[in-house]
Amino acid sequence: MFDYDAELRPHTAHLRAAAAVDTNDRVLDVGCGTGQTTRDAARAATAGSALGVDISGPALATARTRSAGLSNIAFEEADAAVHAFPAAHFDVCLSRFGTMFFADPVAAFTNIAMALRPGARLALLVWQAAERNEWSTVIGEALGTPPRPAAFSLADPASTGDVLTSAGLTDIAFTDVREPVYYGPDPSAAFEAVMYLERAAGTDPDPAARRRLRAAVAGHATPAGVTFDSRAWLITAHRA
Ligand SMILES: C[S@@+](CC[C@H](N)C(=O)[O-])C[C@H]1O[C@@H](n2cnc3c(N)ncnc32)[C@H](O)[C@@H]1O
Repeated sequence: MFDYDAELRPHTAHLRAAAAVDTNDRVLDVGCGTGQTTRDAARAATAGSALGVDISGPALATARTRSAGLSNIAFEEADAAVHAFPAAHFDVCLSRFGTMFFADPVAAFTNIAMALRPGARLALLVWQAAERNEWSTVIGEALGTPPRPAAFSLADPASTGDVLTSAGLTDIAFTDVREPVYYGPDPSAAFEAVMYLERAAGTDPDPAARRRLRAAVAGHATPAGVTFDSRAWLITAHRA
């Protein structure tokens, strides 16, 4: 499994600050994966609760194992776009790169917004355009593959703002988050991390692409590991 927690450590601090989960909050984490941000929320909401939803059963199995000992946390295998959440229930909705994959974003965010109480906070991390993300351009060039459009589907603030407004959200703001992403302690680990993601996406780079990939990750080795530049939007909003 790709280690998003290690990849996204600096991003996670931005999300945590923006979500500002309080003691009594009921928190919804959309596309929670293995649940690090859900656990962060549960630890902050000591008298509240955190629910993580994801469509991946294996990711949720890991999330549950890692969350043993937290009594105010739950995970559900569900498509957040259509799941029947309790109405006007949550005080905070957050997501670390888990909301870019909806086929119908207005319908999906409308469904999520209905689960938020009026005035509830939303804090989402999404990728900016592919060409602003070195991890995408460098790895894509090495593998000879175009960017996967879904990952960048909310990159345009104007259209994403329209989506969120249509869904019933207000006070929508986009903050530029420029932080490195971490792919592993050394080029060999970073190569394997990318190969894991490629296999998960159903692709199998040929030997020449693998050689280019090894060179590309080696070119980004630093004393702190293999890192690439990245640009994300931290989107904040409120339920109207
Ligand atoms: C890039 S991963 C991020 C996972 C997690 N938020 C993290 O930062 O570790 C995107 C996640 O969104 C989930 N996802 C995609 N579409 C979804 C949907 N419609 N409903 C719920 N989860 C979804 C995927 O299964 C995946 O776990």
